[in-house]
Amino acid sequence: MTLHIGLVGCGFIGMVHSVALRAVIRAGLVDAAVTHTCDIDGERAARMAEPHGAISGTDLEALVDAVDVVWVCTWTAEHRAVVQAAVDGGRAVFCEKPLAPTLAECEVVAALLEQVPHQVGLVLRHAPVFAATADAVASGAYGRPLATSLRDDQFFPTQGQYASEWRADVAKAGGGTLLEHSIHDVDVLAWILGPPASVRAETAMRFGHPGIDDVAVLTLGYPDGSHATLLSVWHQILSRSSSRRLEMFCEDAYLWADDDHLGPLHIETSQGETLVPGELPTWERQLDVPAEYLAPIVQYAVPTKAFLDGITAGGKQGWPDASIALRAHHVVDAAYRSSAAGGVLTPIGP
Ligand SMILES: NC(=O)c1ccc[n+]([C@@H]2O[C@H](COP(=O)([O-])OP(=O)(O)OC[C@H]3O[C@@H](n4cnc5c(N)ncnc54)[C@H](O)[C@@H]3O)[C@@H](O)[C@H]2O)c1
Repeated sequence: MTLHIGLVGCGFIGMVHSVALRAVIRAGLVDAAVTHTCDIDGERAARMAEPHGAISGTDLEALVDAVDVVWVCTWTAEHRAVVQAAVDGGRAVFCEKPLAPTLAECEVVAALLEQVPHQVGLVLRHAPVFAATADAVASGAYGRPLATSLRDDQFFPTQGQYASEWRADVAKAGGGTLLEHSIHDVDVLAWILGPPASVRAETAMRFGHPGIDDVAVLTLGYPDGSHATLLSVWHQILSRSSSRRLEMFCEDAYLWADDDHLGPLHIETSQGETLVPGELPTWERQLDVPAEYLAPIVQYAVPTKAFLDGITAGGKQGWPDASIALRAHHVVDAAYRSSAAGGVLTPIGP
């Protein structure tokens, strides 16, 4: 049975999902169709509907009534209301990260999502380079992790391709570079290293938007005595839209990567260096996408296909799910509390 999909929120990431969905649908990789789009800005909804031949509008209830799966791509403060409507209608939900602006609301959104087949847009969980890193650490072949460093930088995303004023408004975004962008990094570190026990954090708002941190420096402590630092920065270098560098010292290896999708992952041991290149899925050849857009589209097409395949297979839960996202939100919340208290060591909740 063809799955009918409704896209809610037709801005930047809604468009990325729309293109990824269209690519996997047209290639016959999933039995689905985007049949409805919705945005409070009707013109945006109409623009996104056009290539799918979908029905567009501003009426969320009408969309929920008509589809099997709801894709939630509104700005963060609206995730809760859209997820509530979708879950009330018993629909499967793909919800973008962050779940909500505050931890209390994240808990509400997570509890709603748990009631239906769902997946959260923490797309780095599908990045081959971080899967290879997590596998390398879990294998134990390189000894115990000692210290890890992850740097994430991006130009202040109220401009350029992101062009969204809400990212400078704490009521809509909940926070700045740490919550809005580096929730991905906090989650990747948890995937590779396990849950941290404590955090010390300092944040700054150098560009003067109240509550919107543009620099965040975290030191995460792990139960085994190892540490990780996360440096998250929003700057004004418009040629750098998003970039990450991971460095990890294990007892017997230095692992690093400066690309957050295909890597490669570099592994240096006393015997020399090996490279673990990330690979695109074999079905990428079936996608009718210009070569220069292939890798970025595949980044979203892989989690999209996985989620839809799970639903088609009988409502199997997506990955990452709300419980994984909520754990990352607990770390971010503890980091903001640490920063507010002057960078004190702060235990991390459940
Ligand atoms: N996973 C990722 O890598 C990734 C990347 C970018 C953005 N995001 C997340 O996606 C969300 C959207 O970000 P964006 O960059 O697309 O923002 P955006 O401003 O480009 O688009 C948001 C859209 O939502 C619409 N909208 C707001 N409230 C609505 C409502 N109640 N009903 C219908 N439409 C509504 C707006 O009119 C706008 O068109 C944010 O939560 C952001 O953090 C995730």
